[in-house]
Amino acid sequence: MTDLFSKFDPLIEQRAALLSTGITDPFSLVMDEVKSPTRAICNGRDTILLGTYNYMGMTFDDDVIAAGQQAMAEYGAGTTGSRVLNGTFRDHKGVEEALKEFYAMDHAMVFSTGYQANLGIISTLAGKGDYVILDIDSHASIYDGCKMGDAEIVAFRHNDVEALEKRLKRLPPEAGKLVVLEGVYSMLGDVAPLKEMIRVSKENGAMVLVDEAHSMGFIGEHGRGVAEEQGVSDDVDFIIGTFSKSVGTVGGFCVSNHPKFEVLRLVCRPYVFTAALPPSVMASSIASIKKLMHGSNKRAHLWENSRTLHKGLKDLGFKLGTDAPQSAIIAVIMPDLERGAMMWEALLHEGLYVNLARPPATPAGMTLLRCSLCAEHSADEVREILTRFERAGRKIGIIG
Ligand SMILES: Cc1ncc(COP(=O)(O)O)c(C=O)c1O
Repeated sequence: MTDLFSKFDPLIEQRAALLSTGITDPFSLVMDEVKSPTRAICNGRDTILLGTYNYMGMTFDDDVIAAGQQAMAEYGAGTTGSRVLNGTFRDHKGVEEALKEFYAMDHAMVFSTGYQANLGIISTLAGKGDYVILDIDSHASIYDGCKMGDAEIVAFRHNDVEALEKRLKRLPPEAGKLVVLEGVYSMLGDVAPLKEMIRVSKENGAMVLVDEAHSMGFIGEHGRGVAEEQGVSDDVDFIIGTFSKSVGTVGGFCVSNHPKFEVLRLVCRPYVFTAALPPSVMASSIASIKKLMHGSNKRAHLWENSRTLHKGLKDLGFKLGTDAPQSAIIAVIMPDLERGAMMWEALLHEGLYVNLARPPATPAGMTLLRCSLCAEHSADEVREILTRFERAGRKIGIIG
């Protein structure tokens, strides 16, 4: 018998070697107590959270919690069914209405996660004989959506408009084409040149899907994302998003103005063949989305935090993923996995949690300490974060 696990041996060995140095396992941290969007108790220590996607700090918003509690009391703990059978409750429709209003779009479809939204929309839209043209650094859920469908996959160099145009021009003019882009790329926190990319996509007869997972709530005048910021919302055919970041709950969605969009509810397998989200999650999400529409003060404070942290880390001598702050994600580039894990642990001992990211999730084989800021981080907390980075960086020898 061939042991089906033998393909994982290199990973098991790499992990064992790392842990044999006595380092804390970076991938099994437990939050013993979560006190606020920016604070938790980890390993018995009060810790500043700088590695969540809680960009707008909505997880502890009073109205968001109250709405969830009320819906749980009125509608029970779960739906026990698919959206197309018994799983559409009042608040599933309510959250779709809230999304339509938030994005000023005609249609909204809510999935159980953002991962499933990409899986479902991409695999259902792009079928046999069609093409999906995607940025090489796309999120795993985009790649998995491609794998699940029957379309031909064409990747182009990250954020390279010319490369996208070249690929498009080589495809048969009459074939169906879906260009898949992200507003903010989550590993380095960099923004896509959507305006130019959408222009060349349209010139070459492609429909465009933009995943705004990391920009919703924060980027753009109304928090609609990078497409809004670059003035091209009306040219995007499908926006994908998630509730697991700025909204502060869980769930995924697609919004669109396409007149035939509603047919997807009948043919999209990751929508049909899974249980709908609990009513409490839907009610909390409605409350959160409505507040995000009026979140301009929070957005301004989050930009301030992003600028301060980026400048502070750069001045300390850390190598960063972008020259200037482009989003709420600031990636600190580590020389290798070993020193990345040591730096991650040193920060944790300082009482600061960041995300350790490594290949294959990261581009170009990089090890990153990804910092994601929250609108609830105070200016004092951001200063404290920099002090802790400085101490840990000198101890591990990442900075001089
Ligand atoms: C770009 C992007 N799309 C989709 C997702 C999936 O979102 P969810 O957590 O709702 O499954 C993520 C999650 O990290 C993401 O970064």
